[in-house]
Amino acid sequence: MKTKILMVCLGNICRSPLAEGILQSKVDSEKVLVDSAGTGNYHIGKPPDPRSIAVARKNGLHIEKQRCRQFSPNDFQKFDVIYAMDNSNFNAIIDMANGQDEIVKVKRLMDEIDGPIKEVPDPYWDDDGFEKVFRLIDSACQAIATKL
Ligand code: 4NP
Repeated sequence: MKTKILMVCLGNICRSPLAEGILQSKVDSEKVLVDSAGTGNYHIGKPPDPRSIAVARKNGLHIEKQRCRQFSPNDFQKFDVIYAMDNSNFNAIIDMANGQDEIVKVKRLMDEIDGPIKEVPDPYWDDDGFEKVFRLIDSACQAIATKL
């Protein structure tokens, strides 16, 4: 049985598509399935933000085939671990959880590594933020991949 991991941000066009692509590149796809979703519904069906596609490509990853979808309460049953990019999305997901079995699946991505940064900042309004966001997500995904 594959381990199923869901990466969640607000729009599912900037951070979580990167997290999906980065983690999938570090694990055996026979053993681990990675998907992503957004708590918001602004960009459903759209490809990732061009700036996320560009920073991924610069780092040897291709995320342009991904399509945005909204997080659904059904995802609690479909996935083993749900990683939120920041506190606001963590709280939004927890609010949709039904009981302790679902709550315990939800984690903050940056809790996977030691250090002062506990949230992946939203880069949507900051053209310069994407390289930093890539590095933060990459370091957390490396820690996850090492543990899997
Ligand atoms: P993301 O970034 O949550 O990392 O995908 C955002 C993308 C779009 C919006 C906000 C954040 N938006 O307001 O449209």
